[in-house]
Amino acid sequence: MNNLAVVGAQWGDEGKGKVVDLLAPRFSAVVRFQGGPNAGHTVVFGGRTHALHHIPSGIFHDGVRCLVGAGALVDPERLIEELDGLGEAGIDPVGRLLLSAKAHVILPLHRALDGAMEARLGTSAIGTTRRGIGPAYAAKAQRWGVRLGDLADGARVAAELDRALAAGVADWCRALGAEVPEPERVAEQVAVWWERLEPLVGNVTRELHETLEAGRPVLFEGAQGALLDVDHGTYPFVTSSSTVAGGIPASLGIAPRAVEAVLGIVKAYATRVGAGPFPTEDTGSLGDALREAGREFGTTTGRPRRCGWFDAVAARYAVRINGLDALAVTKFDVLSGIDPLRIAVGYALDGDPVGDFSDVGDAWDRLEPIWEELPGWSEPLTAVRRLEDLPAGARRYLDRVAELAGVPVALVSVGPDREQTIVDPRGLLSAWIAGR
Ligand code: IMP
Repeated sequence: MNNLAVVGAQWGDEGKGKVVDLLAPRFSAVVRFQGGPNAGHTVVFGGRTHALHHIPSGIFHDGVRCLVGAGALVDPERLIEELDGLGEAGIDPVGRLLLSAKAHVILPLHRALDGAMEARLGTSAIGTTRRGIGPAYAAKAQRWGVRLGDLADGARVAAELDRALAAGVADWCRALGAEVPEPERVAEQVAVWWERLEPLVGNVTRELHETLEAGRPVLFEGAQGALLDVDHGTYPFVTSSSTVAGGIPASLGIAPRAVEAVLGIVKAYATRVGAGPFPTEDTGSLGDALREAGREFGTTTGRPRRCGWFDAVAARYAVRINGLDALAVTKFDVLSGIDPLRIAVGYALDGDPVGDFSDVGDAWDRLEPIWEELPGWSEPLTAVRRLEDLPAGARRYLDRVAELAGVPVALVSVGPDREQTIVDPRGLLSAWIAGR
């Protein structure tokens, strides 16, 4: 096999960026297929932390092509800031990074609408990242979206926007108290963006087809997580794209069989940002301890994350909706010193057992997790590089996670740095990926 997908198997923030960065040298290309700057992928090496939002986490490796496909969103203003950050790290994206001309653009208008709608919703807000994700995907589906390739012609973008404003978008902005954009002003912005982005925009579909046909290995990089998937997540508290592995071929225009293996990333516990169901949340001292020890604050928004125990019901569901072949367990070091540990092994609804995450329907408020307690360990894990060197409690915890999820653990992260990883302890990844 050649091609691997790395997807989030919880509510995002599982540590996909680190895993993708680590595996990237084995691949010819790393491809983002959905989401936009709502994502915050953190890569730590050489004592520096790099936060990526649009750009695939393979960008730090020479000779790895980084592609952003048609199903992703790009906010030119934010992307340009991100490119500046890369420049400071000594990386020239030209020749490394290619953005699909078909990817849709987040305009300042979309950000304003996102923020205004969230503000109006008040206590029933989704808790979005306010990056304009929902409105930009809505514009795409309503066919008044702007694609990256369209930026070549600012006057045309202005004319199309004018048409959309007249068709009701201006009324929508006014109703929400969001500024109605002036098309001429947008045309000026577009010209500035295009000057910077033109060398980076092209035909990702064709390049990807050629790469796959040549048998060169491709890593597909997911953003957000399975439980934020627009169809299969905890709707309406979800993002606006398909975050699951099935979204990869549709978003990129490639054959489903091109996705040969799927690695799901899970934290050793659980977190969620924004509102919505979170069955294993702990709003007391354990949640606070996890937030503190795991530095659980959003990469994109800085918001404190909600924290709780590992949810094996959700993990089993994520395995099924993605077809996961294995898990990578991250932030395992954070559990040191917490004793006993808990895992939700089932749910009860009004006292009756619930077999599957998808059986809950909307009855989240009445749901009670069924807990299993496991002994903890006190030793720090950050220096451990082999499964054999883990304390017995930690081995047992990992084995139980794998057993409950129904797939093996193929990688364990014990700290933010690239080095702080138990890499492929069972040789599963090497067996799946021929690599280059
Ligand atoms: P949106 O994607 O900004 O529209 O936000 C919708 C929901 O997805 C909110 O609950 C966000 O907090 C959540 N979300 C979006 N992107 C991420 C992410 O990268 N990590 C974690 N949560 C995210």
